[in-house]
Amino acid sequence: MVKTTVSVIKADVGSYPGHSRTHPKLLEVAARMLKEAEGSTIIDSYVTHCGDDLELIMTHTKGEDNEEIHELAWNIFMECANVAKEMKLYGAGQDLLADAFSGNVKGMGPGVAEMEFEERGSDPVLVFMADKTEPGAWNYYLYKMFADPFSTSGLVIDPSMHQGFVFEVHDVMEKRKILFNTPEESYSLLAYIGAPSRYVIKYVWKKDGTIAASTSTQRLNLMAGRYVGKDDPVMIVRAQGGLPAVGEVIDPFRTPILVAGWMRGSHHGPFMPVGVPDANCTQFDGPPRVICLGFQVSDRKLIGPVDMFDDPAFNRVRDRCCELADVLRAHGPFEPHRLSLEEMEYTTLPGVEKQFKDRWEDLPE
Ligand code: F6R
Ligand code: MG
Ligand code: MG
Repeated sequence: MVKTTVSVIKADVGSYPGHSRTHPKLLEVAARMLKEAEGSTIIDSYVTHCGDDLELIMTHTKGEDNEEIHELAWNIFMECANVAKEMKLYGAGQDLLADAFSGNVKGMGPGVAEMEFEERGSDPVLVFMADKTEPGAWNYYLYKMFADPFSTSGLVIDPSMHQGFVFEVHDVMEKRKILFNTPEESYSLLAYIGAPSRYVIKYVWKKDGTIAASTSTQRLNLMAGRYVGKDDPVMIVRAQGGLPAVGEVIDPFRTPILVAGWMRGSHHGPFMPVGVPDANCTQFDGPPRVICLGFQVSDRKLIGPVDMFDDPAFNRVRDRCCELADVLRAHGPFEPHRLSLEEMEYTTLPGVEKQFKDRWEDLPE
């Protein structure tokens, strides 16, 4: 049986005004280039943006980490960066850390989430895309979806989910990975993923090997070794039929949690679920936002999308996010609105510290 691959590859290649949103012209260019590739390199595609991030959603049969697919995405980002440069858009080409493509976009700036699977009789797939935050932002939600019986009722009342799930966690600082089985090792899993700047869930599987979720774990600043904005992650989640129901996948986003990112990639802020028309980062370059597009994947075609958070049921979490934003903004430059000093190492703050390093005097013993 031919397997289906869903690839979501994203980059910020320029936006307007400032870091608010991707220009429609870039969306047009990307959509045209993907359409031209349909029938040869890829089968189906959809283009959108979350804030200043251009998001390419593609289906094909070539598996994860395929050179042709990654090169197509890279060429689209390069072309869009050129258009952005012509318009003098802000940060034109900012996430493209290399001059030429070399086999795989991972490590070159763009974020990548991919999954390969045998299509079931019916296959609902949800694509989440965020702006002004980092890959670990998904940790909380993935735990709720796949391991919290107070959130996903199927973990309790669906016998096909009782066996639990396997989580692959990456340590993005030490570049190592580990597997945890839930429910048996839930507490151990939480011990790590509760520190989302370092430990990031990459995949979730059923214990029979069925792929359930895949995220982007690229951390731009760690790649570039300097401040280049946050990493604005993406995530693919499969639903139903022994996996969490669509509603169980999106319900955790009703809880407003605080994530790292926001202004200058240097602040904690509430993670606000919004419909695509509201996916523009405005207030204090934020607050951090997430959109979700729902598809049925049918013979590798994308049936959809449905704009999942464009729903009055999510109005209250948006209001609560605004309240949290007020509380945090009142802190001004103080922690915990501003990130911890350890995290600030990857921002522009070290530049300030450098200016004063010779003015510090030792205290007497
Ligand atoms: C956050 C982000 C923005 C910029 C801010 C300053 O990820 O991209 O908040 O950090 O607008 O941008 P510069 O330094 O380019 O003026
Ligand atoms: Mg930007
Ligand atoms: Mg962004």
